[in-house]
Amino acid sequence: MRRFLLIILVFSVCVQSLSTNVVVNIQSDGAISEISGQFIGVTIDTFELRYWKDEFFRSKRMIMLARALSPMYIRMGGTTADYTIFSTKGVYHTERNNLKVNAPLWDKINGFIQDTGWDFIYDLNSLLRFGNGSWDMNNAVQLIKYSQSKGYKLAGWELGNEPNVYKGHDVVSPSQLSEDYVKLRNILQHFLKGPGSNAINASTFHHYYGYEGNFNLLDFLNPKILDNLIPEINIAKKYTKEYCPEGMQVWLGETSSVWGEGKPGYSDRYVAGFMWLDKLGLSAQLGIDTVMRQDFYGGQYGLLNSDGFPNPDYWLTLLYKLLVGSKVLNKNMIEMKTKITPEHLRFYTHCTNNKRTNYTKGSITVYGMNLNAVDAAIYFDQYIESELHLYLLEPSDNYGLTSGNVSLNGKHLEITENGNIPNLLTPKVVRNPVIIPGFRFGFVVIPSANKNICY
Ligand SMILES: *[C@@H]1O[C@H](CO)[C@@H](O)[C@H](O)[C@H]1NC(C)=O
Ligand SMILES: *[C@@H]1O[C@H](CO)[C@@H](O)[C@H](O)[C@H]1NC(C)=O
Ligand SMILES: *[C@@H]1O[C@H](CO)[C@@H](O)[C@H](O)[C@H]1NC(C)=O
Ligand SMILES: *[C@@H]1O[C@H](CO)[C@@H](O)[C@H](O)[C@H]1NC(C)=O
Repeated sequence: MRRFLLIILVFSVCVQSLSTNVVVNIQSDGAISEISGQFIGVTIDTFELRYWKDEFFRSKRMIMLARALSPMYIRMGGTTADYTIFSTKGVYHTERNNLKVNAPLWDKINGFIQDTGWDFIYDLNSLLRFGNGSWDMNNAVQLIKYSQSKGYKLAGWELGNEPNVYKGHDVVSPSQLSEDYVKLRNILQHFLKGPGSNAINASTFHHYYGYEGNFNLLDFLNPKILDNLIPEINIAKKYTKEYCPEGMQVWLGETSSVWGEGKPGYSDRYVAGFMWLDKLGLSAQLGIDTVMRQDFYGGQYGLLNSDGFPNPDYWLTLLYKLLVGSKVLNKNMIEMKTKITPEHLRFYTHCTNNKRTNYTKGSITVYGMNLNAVDAAIYFDQYIESELHLYLLEPSDNYGLTSGNVSLNGKHLEITENGNIPNLLTPKVVRNPVIIPGFRFGFVVIPSANKNICY
């Protein structure tokens, strides 16, 4: 018995003293792509309109949380969008599957959007159809006219949600849909007097790593699963290139960890951050223009929980917006000094965001994660003498990866009842090597990087 204990003890000591030494060389001095200040967007599922509580959405705390993420697109869409009807008269009610949005509710939603400063994209019902199969735009016209009369400025419209999974009599052919997009564009031009000839501004696709019921904790940390996004992005880019005018943007129009409203206890916890941060990194690398997080509020995968307080991914999103700039540098050359597989260390580099920080031009931000259980000691060989600014996000309670709270460099992050958001620009100043503990993620700003491309 004793001997057994001793062996375990020795083993755990060994594991703890092991660490992966990694040398990172930021090779490129060229940007491979550029993201906009609107790179991260959020969604609110149309489904949530059934339960819209104005006092909840327009509370001071909610508005502060939302504004901190501005500028940002908000997309309201989802399966329910294709069963939603706008009505200037009548009460707001639901009949079977159908949702009726009346003018007072539309006013409340737009009031919230105006409070937040967000750019609103609304998903129109594509299943309203004439007998000959073509889209019946009359309800959309009513909504657009009404919005115009109220001075609501929408940044964009979508028509339908995931038409590839329409079933039965709802199935709409691709050629019919493309005619319908042209019809929508014509309506918008008529009412908004916009120029331009393209029917659409961006092509969108949706992505989840899988269904929540099939996912366990380790799946959230599995590099092979994280890599599943790559072929999906490539397919979306390929079809967009093939069928759309040159330069058409490609958006991840709705995306999160796992579908089925997220995995309870995971999608709303620290561990969800690996999928989210990696998704942002890969999308930026591969030239995706906007990534719409499903969702801001609702289900288990919200940036906010059901009480309207931040889940860990809220803080991760805010920190990303503060620190990560638009120019994307080539994925780092990571030279491994141990035999531990490099795919467990995933890092991305951008120029630092100079708009929301005081970092000087030329600075770079490296962000990513350690998917090994042991620490990674990262040596930035080119900056061996430099000060490095670490922003490490960690679970801030005893639940570890399934923690519902997060700390930044050891400081527990929380918002006060009346909406004061803590200052996140509080780096830990370190020198080589930067230690990223096992199963953790974060950001490293290199203020003295002096990269030409970042001026
Ligand atoms: C389909 O029917 C609608 C309503 O009757 C009509 O306005 C439209 O022109 C028709 N479209 C085609 C392609 O026939
Ligand atoms: C969308 O495309 C139209 C037509 O090309 C153009 O007039 C409009 O400015 C674009 N909107 C945005 C938000 O880029
Ligand atoms: C940048 O510096 C100015 C002047 O010291 C200060 O007022 C401002 O709050 C700083 N901004 C940030 C984001 O730290
Ligand atoms: C997060 O911490 C707050 C206290 O700051 C606590 O009330 C809350 O229950 C914690 N959330 C979770 C999911 O543990």
